[in-house]
Amino acid sequence: MEPMRVAVLGATGAVGREMLRTLEERRFRLDELVPLASPRSAGVRLPFADDVVEVRAVERATFEGVDVALFSAGADASREWAPVAVAAGATVVDNSSAFRMEPDVPLVVPEINREALDGHRGIVANPNCTAITAMMAVAPLHVAAGLSRLVASSYQSVSGAGHRGVAELLEQVEKLRGAEEELARPDPEALPAGEVFGRTIAYNVLPRGGTFDPDGATTEETKFVNETRKILGLPDLEVAVTVVRVPVVVGHSLAMYAEFDKDLSVEAARLVLARFPGVEVVDDPLRDAFPTPLDAAGRDEVLVGRIRPGPRRRSLQLFASGDNLRKGAALNAVQIAEALTG
Ligand SMILES: NC(=O)c1ccc[n+]([C@@H]2O[C@H](COP(=O)([O-])OP(=O)(O)OC[C@H]3O[C@@H](n4cnc5c(N)ncnc54)[C@H](OP(=O)(O)O)[C@@H]3O)[C@@H](O)[C@H]2O)c1
Repeated sequence: MEPMRVAVLGATGAVGREMLRTLEERRFRLDELVPLASPRSAGVRLPFADDVVEVRAVERATFEGVDVALFSAGADASREWAPVAVAAGATVVDNSSAFRMEPDVPLVVPEINREALDGHRGIVANPNCTAITAMMAVAPLHVAAGLSRLVASSYQSVSGAGHRGVAELLEQVEKLRGAEEELARPDPEALPAGEVFGRTIAYNVLPRGGTFDPDGATTEETKFVNETRKILGLPDLEVAVTVVRVPVVVGHSLAMYAEFDKDLSVEAARLVLARFPGVEVVDDPLRDAFPTPLDAAGRDEVLVGRIRPGPRRRSLQLFASGDNLRKGAALNAVQIAEALTG
């Protein structure tokens, strides 16, 4: 068997570190790991497989002999380095938004559309973490009953904005310790705000993901709509979404309303979801069982519950929570790499 070299670009980041853990946990067939980041982190030592690996600054030569390159260093780094890695013979699994909507780049959640990997041309895109969580809950129902409309609101954790997002939340929580009185009548000038979220994220929710488009949607909302349509192969699907950042460290959640072409009872939906790999149904109102991000954090499965009829015929409402760093990013990318390397 040929030796397998796997590069991880962005190895020091929130997703990159989870990638290393995931490769190790899943015993990914690998003879050499090449951890890469910017020159800032060259020489940083990271634990991997009972050993430590040293991070190298990404450059052209670092992709020589690499079979699979897992990218999680942002869209600019992906645009710069993915063509270099592909030219060197690697297949790139990219976590950024750089190539997701390119027609010749498959956008893959292996449990849902693994066949889209056929005929890739060197780059495979990992969907946005919120889209993955939503699709794990909705795609099985679509197969069962034909999805015709989706309305969603997301509750996205701060780690979705990387390790700096987590640091910003914790810093603000610390600053606001004991400030119950002030928070009941806040002085906007005195509230802490950081570079990542621009507004106070501690004890608050922010209905803004990315930047605003001219039509009032945010970039994260546009990504969700486009990626949902591409993953499900439904280019005209009606999708409405509001993306909201919440003061949760890990775990993205969504409240969703879905309409279908065919009847789908709550019981049938639970059964379909329970049988779907990578989903766990947590839905027992009598026992107070429902998904939460804290229950999903650190787990591979997307948790789905609160399944109930919607106001219209052939509609359902549901709630899903998934670990944005695992299934939303690292795990999904490693699953794609597993599918690519057999
Ligand atoms: N967080 C999530 O839930 C999530 C989910 C899905 C997808 N993603 C995507 O994954 C990517 C990384 O996200 P993250 O949350 O892990 O961010 P992060 O914690 O800020 O980490 C960023 C990583 O990228 C590296 N990097 C940044 N600019 C670079 C450059 N020009 N050249 C080489 N390396 C560079 C950083 O290296 P240094 O240590 O050298 O700065 C660090 O390792 C983003 O594209 C994001 O959209 C994130």
